[in-house]
Amino acid sequence: MRMRFLVCLVVLALCLPAAVAQDSSKAAPPAPTTNRIELPPPSLSGGMSLTEALATRRSVRAFSPTPLSKAELSQILWAAQGITDKQGHRTAPSASAQYYVHVYAASAEGLFEYIPSGHQLQKLSGEDLRSKFSAQPSVNHAPTVLVIAGEYERAISRSGPERGPRVVLLEAGHIAENVLLQAVALGFGAVPVGGIEPKDVQKAAALPSQYSVIYLIPVGHPK
Ligand SMILES: Cc1cc2nc3c(=O)[nH]c(=O)nc-3n(C[C@H](O)[C@H](O)[C@H](O)COP(=O)(O)O)c2cc1C
Repeated sequence: MRMRFLVCLVVLALCLPAAVAQDSSKAAPPAPTTNRIELPPPSLSGGMSLTEALATRRSVRAFSPTPLSKAELSQILWAAQGITDKQGHRTAPSASAQYYVHVYAASAEGLFEYIPSGHQLQKLSGEDLRSKFSAQPSVNHAPTVLVIAGEYERAISRSGPERGPRVVLLEAGHIAENVLLQAVALGFGAVPVGGIEPKDVQKAAALPSQYSVIYLIPVGHPK
């Protein structure tokens, strides 16, 4: 009995470092902490009713060049993934609260990652990348294009090859709908763009290899 216990301990000691190494290789790299930009706090009341937003949402593909203000971008990003309680849960649901999806905002000013904890932006590039993402006019003309990317490998390692990618895509869909409805409520237009080459967008944005691009959402004042 004692011998069997010892053998188990040895096997565990041998396997554990490999398991940890495998897990960490699937985890996203930690976001850098320099170049952080504070966003103004989102408004938590007022605006159009949810029913009105649902009744009036329509895909908008033509935009005026007026950029979104920082407060407007803050509101859109909060709708996407803002933290709404002390446990860190967010506006959009996520399988087992794993939060596999990352949201970026591309504009004439560059590329920024939304950091839900702290409601901040992380500046990743000063280059205007919008025209590199897609030839679709909505992507080229919107003042802000959100990029929605997910961590398939992390989800697969937790939930398996069938459920893993599915929960990532479902989370991205929840986030996208939140953005579309918040855009309507603010008087903006937006369109979910899935007709993209994910690898091309990932390369243009220089996203980590673990992050697969799922959706683009051009957002702006309707023309
Ligand atoms: C998964 C998905 C992918 C889409 N891809 C594109 C796209 O690549 N380009 C585009 O202009 N619209 C795209 N759309 C928007 C649809 O064309 C639009 O939702 C549909 O025509 C219904 O119109 P509505 O959004 O105004 O209700 C996409 C929508 C979904 C749900």
